[in-house]
Amino acid sequence: MQESGSLVIRPARNILGSLRVPGDKSISHRYAMLAAVAGGRSRFRNFAPGADCASTLHCVRELGCGVERDAEGVVSVDGVGARLRPPAGPLDCGNSGSTMRMLSGLLAGQDFASDLVGDASLSCRPMKRIIEPLTRMGAEIRGTDGDRAPLHIRGARLHGIDYRPAVASAQVKTSVLFAGLLAEGRTSVEEPARTRDHGELALRAFGAELERTQNRVSIEGRQQLHPLDAFVPGDISSAAFFLCAASIFPESNMVIDGVLLNPTRSALLDVLTAMGSRISMMRVEESNGELVGTISLVPGRGRPVKVEGALTALLIDELPVLAAIAPFTAGGLEVRDAGELRVKESDRLSAVTRNLQAMGAQVEETDTGWRIPGRQRLHGAEIQSCDDHRIAMAFAVAALHAEGESVLRNAECVAISYPAFFDDLEKLVER
Ligand code: S3P
Repeated sequence: MQESGSLVIRPARNILGSLRVPGDKSISHRYAMLAAVAGGRSRFRNFAPGADCASTLHCVRELGCGVERDAEGVVSVDGVGARLRPPAGPLDCGNSGSTMRMLSGLLAGQDFASDLVGDASLSCRPMKRIIEPLTRMGAEIRGTDGDRAPLHIRGARLHGIDYRPAVASAQVKTSVLFAGLLAEGRTSVEEPARTRDHGELALRAFGAELERTQNRVSIEGRQQLHPLDAFVPGDISSAAFFLCAASIFPESNMVIDGVLLNPTRSALLDVLTAMGSRISMMRVEESNGELVGTISLVPGRGRPVKVEGALTALLIDELPVLAAIAPFTAGGLEVRDAGELRVKESDRLSAVTRNLQAMGAQVEETDTGWRIPGRQRLHGAEIQSCDDHRIAMAFAVAALHAEGESVLRNAECVAISYPAFFDDLEKLVER
């Protein structure tokens, strides 16, 4: 790392080796929050190490739970049961939309008021999507302009609702289900498209009963949770950077162990297969409802790929890195229906476009996606991370395949989800 978080990235010849990635961020958030409202001590091995999940642990501690992380990364949470303790001050969610949106579900059902704050990026992100259903359940929530953090939540005795969110968002679904756990009666969420199901699987792992049919999930309120001792599978959205890097170098060979293979998260593997890679899955096991296994990838030449409709929601966090490698693929990539990327940690549609253009790529940005031709040659450039961890990692990968060096600005933002990302990448790069 050079002055003020800039990093020089030199081109690579090849990507080779095997690795384990840090624990899944989505699962870690949910486990920590549910551990807080379960009685007793929960323990999580391979808990996500990034700043986002640290924000969740910080909030959980402020809400009265004992939280410890040992040298091996095992996190223990001493839950206090459904009635959390009133926090002494505002709950700082940092950069983490997951913390703010999902924790709001639990806070909506408390008999105290709380304030949730976040950094500049989080304070620009839409919150009406959780304010609306949680208000319908009985909580009082005030946000800036009705849609943004800081949020002031006056908890209440909630009642169940039947909710059909307008956006396909796992954070919204989970927030409403968490509120439903504390509510009187039954709460159902019917999604416009299937999203990751870690909220449902985590609730079951902690002992709650849920019913699921297609895109609809229902929970009876006032169920008691028991504590959980669990392994958090490696984050496939972090593994995505290495898999995508390996897929664009003809001689590469990559193995990732202990990685999450939940079908609501593994669509990336289908896309990389269509782009030409041969991917195998081995030693697949179930752990608290989540599939975990080993992935190996060898690259090959593929066809043009189009991502649209329901597939977009299942790939939402992998789209920046897929777009960043698209110019190096044989057939290119077209993405549609991904307007949600504009309201992530940065406007990821425009961040990707600007960085690809800086590297000399041809790319067409639409309102909800991009068209990126394949077989392009890119040059090294100054890359802006936009303080967005997934943009920084996506373009660290693109820079490996460019001609000449690149300089990645504010590279340190990778610590949001993957503090050791550059060290792990260096271990796999051959020059
Ligand atoms: C997440 C859901 C997605 C994803 C985010 C994590 C989750 O967000 O982009 O990184 O853990 O539920 P949305 O719910 O806003 O789609």
